[in-house]
Amino acid sequence: QDNMPTYRPLFHFSTDSNWINDPNGLVYHNGQYHLFCQYNPFGDKWGHMSWAHAVSNDLFHWQQQPLAIPEFTNPDGSTTMIFSGCAVADSLNTSGFGTAAQPPLVAMYTAHIEKGGKVQSQQQQLAYSTDDGKTWTRYAGNPVLDIKSTEFRDPKIFWYTPGKQWILVLAKPDEYKVRFYSSPDLKQWTYLSDFGGIGDISEVWECPDITEVPVEGTAEKRWLLTLSAGHEVKGYRAMQYFTGVFNGKQFIADQAPYPLYVDFGKDYYAGITWNNIPAADGRVIMLGWANDWRYANDIPTKGFRGQYATPRVLQLRKKDNGQYRLLQWPVAELDKQVKQSHTLPGFTVTSGEHPLYESVIPALDISFDVTLPYATSAGIALQQDSAHTTIISYNNATGNLEIDRSNAGLHNFSTLYTGLDTLHAPGLEKASFRIVFDVCMLEVFVNNGEYVLTDLVFPLQPQTGVVAFANKGTAAFSNIVVKEINKTVH
Ligand code: FRU
Repeated sequence: QDNMPTYRPLFHFSTDSNWINDPNGLVYHNGQYHLFCQYNPFGDKWGHMSWAHAVSNDLFHWQQQPLAIPEFTNPDGSTTMIFSGCAVADSLNTSGFGTAAQPPLVAMYTAHIEKGGKVQSQQQQLAYSTDDGKTWTRYAGNPVLDIKSTEFRDPKIFWYTPGKQWILVLAKPDEYKVRFYSSPDLKQWTYLSDFGGIGDISEVWECPDITEVPVEGTAEKRWLLTLSAGHEVKGYRAMQYFTGVFNGKQFIADQAPYPLYVDFGKDYYAGITWNNIPAADGRVIMLGWANDWRYANDIPTKGFRGQYATPRVLQLRKKDNGQYRLLQWPVAELDKQVKQSHTLPGFTVTSGEHPLYESVIPALDISFDVTLPYATSAGIALQQDSAHTTIISYNNATGNLEIDRSNAGLHNFSTLYTGLDTLHAPGLEKASFRIVFDVCMLEVFVNNGEYVLTDLVFPLQPQTGVVAFANKGTAAFSNIVVKEINKTVH
């Protein structure tokens, strides 16, 4: 047992120890990215939810800071856990928590109040920092929003420039709705509207976010509403999105023929975007928790439990039918973490295998194009030995993109951790792949991020190579670049 790997990723965020789930309070401020997270200071399973804190200059080298907002006990003996929420840079000091010269950072979290094991309330509270996020003070006037509900959570706030006010979106999970409010000062909130009941309503709605996102190759922007819920067909937790218009009061969704999912892997949830990215940068950057609630407490990592996916830039692609689809791509800062880059010659492979890269590889960023008009399926395998592989492939006959982790390593820690992810995506007989692999994390980006799958794998031995393959025919691999990535965390 002691020889077991820790599964600590090399460049994906994890905390020094203990449990994490959702990212919270993502805000860029004075040259630093701040990240807070749902954190248990006392153990490596969910509980005692508090906000941990880390800062980074480049989204990859993170320095964990002192606990930002701990769970606390109330005078009546009830306990308040600090559930998910957001942080904003209150540059105009609208809240009055700072001064014009020293404006505050303001966090809004859901106070999840329990007494004797019974949930009493989920209400929204504020905390602020006047020392660039180092220390946090809870607002004496809390709560700032309380509708006497036990299902009302995960606030995300942004500054709405046309209306010169703050807009808040948060979830009414068991009603499959999100709700909008506005405020001049972050303290007084006015109800605006509800949105929901459409899309995927197979699981409670949590962690909404709304932001205006650039449309690829144009000067246009479109509003994007994301949230975390479920996948009605596959039965696991998943993020979904809607595109549309936000008019300052309500969100009007574009028609979509079916629910739209952010990520088609099993392990991507609770993603939210960074607030306050400078206009000159202009990126919308999302960070998600790479895990699935169904087995998150049981994954076999050692010394920590919970990791975040690569921060991703979001864009929209306008399709020929006028509909918008989400694109996700690793932030360019990942390229700066490259240790060695190899541009490799292309090749064809016919009904068999061809080595693509051989080396002991804890962390890789692999790109290639594959054309397989004459093969039934083709792809690559991350190989430990002949029996232990993680397979990423496209099946031309079924039109399915697949990740098969059933022989990738440990899987018996939970019966809910299952092997095969399938995404029906016809027309990929010529496609570009980017595969980001880091110890226990696999992120697959197809066609510039139009399809993304994130999955956890727990190899029992080091990965020793990447093998390309084609079944029943020929596939051509080209534009192959393999990058080894540096260790940036811990
Ligand atoms: C989502 C979530 C949130 C909640 C938090 C509690 O993963 O259930 O809705 O605020 O986790 O840790």
